[in-house]
Amino acid sequence: MATPISVWVTGEGGFVGNAIVRSARDSNVISLTRREIDLTDFHAVSARFRQDKPDFIIHTAAMARSPDCQANPTLSRKINVAATAHLAGLAQNIGFIFFSTDLVFDGKKGNYVETDEPNPLSVYAETKVAAEQIILRNPQHTVVRCSLVFGASPKGNHSFNEDLRAAWNAGKTTKLFHDEYRTPIHVDLVARAIWEIVAQKHSGLFHLAGAEKFSRLQLGELVAARYPELTPRIESCSLREYQGPPRPRDASLNCAKLQSLVSFKLAGLNEWLEQHPDAGF
Ligand SMILES: NC(=O)c1ccc[n+]([C@@H]2O[C@H](COP(=O)([O-])OP(=O)(O)OC[C@H]3O[C@@H](n4cnc5c(N)ncnc54)[C@H](OP(=O)(O)O)[C@@H]3O)[C@@H](O)[C@H]2O)c1
Repeated sequence: MATPISVWVTGEGGFVGNAIVRSARDSNVISLTRREIDLTDFHAVSARFRQDKPDFIIHTAAMARSPDCQANPTLSRKINVAATAHLAGLAQNIGFIFFSTDLVFDGKKGNYVETDEPNPLSVYAETKVAAEQIILRNPQHTVVRCSLVFGASPKGNHSFNEDLRAAWNAGKTTKLFHDEYRTPIHVDLVARAIWEIVAQKHSGLFHLAGAEKFSRLQLGELVAARYPELTPRIESCSLREYQGPPRPRDASLNCAKLQSLVSFKLAGLNEWLEQHPDAGF
């Protein structure tokens, strides 16, 4: 199937948006950074949409850090819900992919499939659920719930692997939960899956995650094994000790639905590391 000609990608300055723009092949990508256009300036966004006339929108921009949303719920709703609704309205007759999160679930069950009921625990997750409901009213539109993403971010300071390395570089000991679980996926695989969804015009709700589940502690140990020269220091701790915004215990996603549609394996972290023995991350 032909890939749409002209694709808007929001959040190009961010971790996932940047990878999506970098891996574009057949499309004319128009990438939007916040410096260029603030998505909460609805008048400016509408005017730019009329000018560019994109055939498709991939919307990654968001207030994406849970503590920021918890600290500023009004702004997070404006960016994550209102700006998304505005874009989806402009895109009513074209394809639209919205990035949601595994954190829409309360973490009591794990291995979540698309038909499981969300139960958000944090402001960030609430905004994502609210936006999902708006997006899915349009049968042409797509929600991709993404798990924790690893890899190299444009500023080198966004992914969990980068955060861990920065802490060890600074001589800190990292405390990692032995009882919180996610299904991380490499940012390049996220980007590849998104372009296949665009090309094949898949709409509806999809879970995009790696095929393996890890505790935070296991994730730390895998990163540490790749960077012994940093003499990583890790301390195991329990989610029960955590004082910040509520976090789901097991937000692992079942990615079988999307796995059956894409042309490559949605590899988990361990598998990715084995396939890329010399790659930094
Ligand atoms: N990374 C993960 O592990 C993960 C997991 C699950 C879901 N997600 C979702 O995936 C998407 C991408 O995440 P990410 O990790 O790439 O986040 P990110 O690195 O924080 O990037 C978000 C981007 O959105 C831009 N932005 C924020 N507010 C804006 C506004 N008002 N107008 C225009 N642009 C604005 C930011 O601009 P600035 O650069 O100027 O700040 C940034 O470039 C998000 O929707 C996130 O919720 C991410």
